[in-house]
Order: sequence, then structure tokens, then C-alpha cells
Amino acid sequence: MSDKVTLEFNGNKYDFPIVEGTEKEQAIDIKTLRSATGLTTIDPGYKNTGSCESAITFLDGEKGILRYRGYSIEELAEKADFLEVAYLLIFGELPNTDQLAKFHADIKKESHVDEEMKKILDGFPKSAHPMGVLSSLTSALIAFNPSSVNVTSENDMYHAIVRILAKFPVLVAWTLRKKKGLPLDYGDDSLGYVENIHKMMFKRPSEDYKSNKIVIDALDKLLILHADHEQNCSTSTVRIVGSSHAGLFASLSAGISALWGPLHGGANQAVLEMLEAIEADGGDTKKYMAKAKDKNDPFRLMGFGHRVYKNFDPRAKIIKVAADEVLNDLGIDDPILDIAKGLEKEALEDPYFVDRKLYPNVDFYSGIIYRALGIPTEMFTVMFALGRLPGWIAQWREMRLNNEPIGRPRQVYVGENHRSFVEVNKR
Ligand code: CMC
Repeated sequence: MSDKVTLEFNGNKYDFPIVEGTEKEQAIDIKTLRSATGLTTIDPGYKNTGSCESAITFLDGEKGILRYRGYSIEELAEKADFLEVAYLLIFGELPNTDQLAKFHADIKKESHVDEEMKKILDGFPKSAHPMGVLSSLTSALIAFNPSSVNVTSENDMYHAIVRILAKFPVLVAWTLRKKKGLPLDYGDDSLGYVENIHKMMFKRPSEDYKSNKIVIDALDKLLILHADHEQNCSTSTVRIVGSSHAGLFASLSAGISALWGPLHGGANQAVLEMLEAIEADGGDTKKYMAKAKDKNDPFRLMGFGHRVYKNFDPRAKIIKVAADEVLNDLGIDDPILDIAKGLEKEALEDPYFVDRKLYPNVDFYSGIIYRALGIPTEMFTVMFALGRLPGWIAQWREMRLNNEPIGRPRQVYVGENHRSFVEVNKR
């Protein structure tokens, strides 16, 4: 196997080394391309560009493999809880009992959010989209906490991390409670991390909170499945914003905005809205399949296709089973699930989808579970953000510890050549 690639350009030959990852992925190292040849590369959407070397998440889109720090997503979803997975992603190893207890205790110590933050939330209309609110509140947190982290201090880094893992769920819960017109409460530190999040979101002022193991387990699993996905749009955003040495919270706020889009995290909301529209339209899945295939129709089958997975998204397999279990356990008969299953069956047999390797992705079934758990559709992407938080933190930490240079892509300019200014009255 060759360890270099040779480029021939204008009669000269240039060698570029091959970099090999631990899973034998190979990449051309073009760090010296421009200085040696004067050339840059063009790759819209970065479909062929590796922006970093990372030791956090491995995914093989062809084989449908997803691993966090070497552990398979299937095993983690079955055996670990979300806080263990967060620790694993951020610090690289599964915590032992003492490490996990300390991690949780340190998070609990930070679980308050400055009361003044409530005034900021109060300024938003109830109709505001929760993702916009969450991104703004995360940014606003900076005003109440150190704006930058000394990355050479393990202690400072650790504190910034536990602070945001503690406060972010409060912001998520307040965003939901504001939407529902419920008082902005705090949680109960005697509960587990995910159970506490659930309580913060759903406790009604006049009732005792009743925990439901099925619901908490399903939520835990969903958060684990969303916890990291290597260099996707929002994670790349977090890394690129952080590469300017903007603080952790500022980088996360930008990541939330990136996640919001319907082609990324916003797809879970879009999937459910699509399924509801199909149901309202008589449940004719064939009609919507035809629309998805029609190049003159902008409609896309939301929850289908993935930039990296060209085989089944392993998270979708786990979620599909979980959706069945949760609906059964909670005794919910949801016609939306039947429509989803019908669409999936048709798409998996349809040459348009088969040829393009379009399979259901993580968002195709997650919304059905969120709905069963009583989470409003507009909050789905917020739940994704809650799950993705440890991944963003891990990626930001890795990028800062590796002292990566500021992210600054090149371009190929295709605009006007130099021209002289013309006074306004002469144009
Ligand atoms: N419905 C119909 N056609 C599709 C779909 C779809 N959902 N996705 C891709 N295609 C077609 C597309 O029209 C193109 O066809 P052609 O080759 O004839 O022009 C071909 O498949 C390749 O699509 P692409 O847009 O070039 O692929 P991409 O890698 O740039 O986009 C994607 C990936 C996820 C943005 C896209 O598949 C999509 O828009 N899916 C629906 C939105 C969605 O479910 N997003 C959630 C992604 S998973 C959660 C996350 O990690 O963010």
C-alpha cells in the first residue's frame, strides 16, 4: 500500500503523505498543498474533506457502524446510562463508580441558573421557536459565568464542563415550561441526571412528580443515541467557532443554531410534521413517495438519507425497536407510527431510494417516541441538542487541547474583476 500520493501539475510532481486512522481510513495530507503548488481545493459541503484528526467517534457509513471511544452504540444504548456516556465522550474512558459519583456530584453543585436569566426568558414571546430561545439563553449564560476557559488548566476545563452539563438541562426545561405557561422551577438533585431533567420539564405545580421507568429509560436511550456523531454540521460549527478561542458557551450556542436547520437536527420536527400532514391528507403514503421522487417538487422524505450513512443508520434500528416498546408499554396506539412503517417499507423497496442508498436516519423514529413521552413537536430538536451536548463539549475540548489552528477555509473567487467606482448620480 502506497504511503503517498503524487500530484502532477504544470510539469512538476509533488508528493503528499497518506494519513491512516486507527480504523484504516486513509486521507491525503494536503497541509503543504498551497505553499508547494499554489493550488487550493474546492469541496462544497466538505464531502471529501477531513477537518481534523479525532479520537472521539468512529462511524463507517457503508457498514452502518457507530462507536463512541471504541464502544459500539448498540452496547452503550443497552448497558450504559447517559451520564456515563457523557463522561466517556468527554474524558475518553468509561468512569468507575467513584469517578461517576464525583462527576454527578460536581454537576449537581452547579445546577442553579441565575434568577436574572428568567427575565431574559420572559422577554421572548410564547410563540418563539424553542431552538432560538435555547441558543439565546445559552449565549446569555456567558454574562453570568466566565466568558473564556483557561484550557491549560484541567481544573478550569472541568469546571466549565460540569457547569454547562448542569445548567443546560435547566434552560431546556425552562424553554419548555415557558411554552406551556408553567412556573420556572428547579429540579431535585436526589434524582438521577435524566430523571431530574424529566422532572424539571414535566412537574406540574399542583401535583407530586411521579417517575416512570419506561419513560426515563427511553429518554436515556434517545439521549445516548444522539450524543455524538463526529464532524456533522453543528459539531463542525462548535469546533470552528471555538477555534477562534471563543468560549465554550458561545461555541455551543452557535452549534445549537446549526442544529436547528431541517436538514440537520430540525429533521425530527420536520418528520413528525410530515407524518401528521400525510395522516391529515388521508394517509396516502404512495402520493408522498411520488412527491419525494419528483425532481420538480421540493418535497423530500424527511428522516430519510444521510450524508455519511449509505446503509442503515444504526441509531435508526435501535430507535425503531424502542419506539415499538415505548408505545406498547405506555399503551399508545399511534396511527402516525403505522404511516411511518408504511413509508419505510415502500422506500426500502423503491429503486429511487435503493439506488441512492437512502435509508431511514435517526430522526425518522425519534419524534414518534418524543410524542409518546408528551414532548411537543417544536421541542424535538431541543431534545436532540440536550443529547448532543456531551459530544459538542468533547469535540470542543479535543480541538482546544490539540491546539488546532483557527478554522478558515479558502475559496475560489468567481466575481467581477477589478473595476472603477462610479458615482451614484452616474449609475
Ligand atoms: N428524499 C428524497 N430524495 C432524497 C432525500 C430525501 N430525504 N435525500 C436525498 N435525496 C436524493 C437527492 O435528491 C439526490 O438525488 P439526485 O442524485 O437524483 O440529485 C440524492 O438523493 C443525494 O442527495 P444529496 O442531497 O446530494 O445528499 P446529501 O448527502 O447532500 O444530503 C441529507 C443528506 C441528510 C441532507 C439529505 O438526505 C436530506 O435532505 N434528508 C432529509 C432531511 C433529514 O432527514 N435530515 C436528517 C439527517 S440525520 C440527523 C442529523 O445527523 O442531522
